[in-house]
Amino acid sequence: MKTETLLTKYNMFSEIAFGGPAMAGFKIRTAAQRDIGILVRQRHLMFEEMRHETAAQHKIGDDSSHEWATSMMEQGLFKCFLVTSERGRVAAGGCLWLREEQPGPGHPARRTPYLMSMYMEPKFRGKGLGSLIVKKAQRWSNKRGYPHMSLHASKMGRKLYAKLGWKRIWEMAIDLE
Ligand SMILES: CC(C)(COP(=O)(O)OP(=O)(O)OC[C@H]1O[C@@H](n2cnc3c(N)ncnc32)[C@H](O)[C@@H]1OP(=O)(O)O)[C@@H](O)C(=O)NCCC(=O)NCCS
Repeated sequence: MKTETLLTKYNMFSEIAFGGPAMAGFKIRTAAQRDIGILVRQRHLMFEEMRHETAAQHKIGDDSSHEWATSMMEQGLFKCFLVTSERGRVAAGGCLWLREEQPGPGHPARRTPYLMSMYMEPKFRGKGLGSLIVKKAQRWSNKRGYPHMSLHASKMGRKLYAKLGWKRIWEMAIDLE
């Protein structure tokens, strides 16, 4: 599996951008099918921090996520990045779902990389790992010619994305009875 040491990345970018020497020893890699359990766990923990759900609701989400991620990965529509610490512990993760978008002015139906399931283990936060994953996802998408990306930001995540140039758009929603 292809890994890219952050030490190399750290040399490529500024110390401020990647949180300084605290980043040394971390590795980023693409997740495979065998990592789906880790990805589902990260998504579960992300939701636990964002809102209060019952254990039964989480179980439904986790089971469906497992099935959904397996199928999306098989179709090549789900690309996830995992960061591991020097000791090999999974510290962080984030995924891209190549979501179908309807035709619009100047383009037919197309896929747009949707950044989701961003989760950093609490002890690894504030070290630049979140920024690292977003930048990695952006580079991956840019290299493949996608003109833009989207995401739904948690309250905690807003500053991270804004710092990297993401803009708020006016998508709206309503709860129906
Ligand atoms: C939000 C989260 C992904 C940030 O990851 P991280 O690795 O700590 O982020 P970084 O170290 O790259 O920080 C980048 C910027 O984000 C902002 N940020 C990070 N943590 C923050 C927090 N708890 N509250 C507010 N802003 C925060 C800061 O502006 C920071 O830049 P600075 O350190 O120069 O001020 C992480 O806290 C997390 O996993 N939270 C729980 C799940 C979640 O909300 N995921 C996002 C779903 S959209």
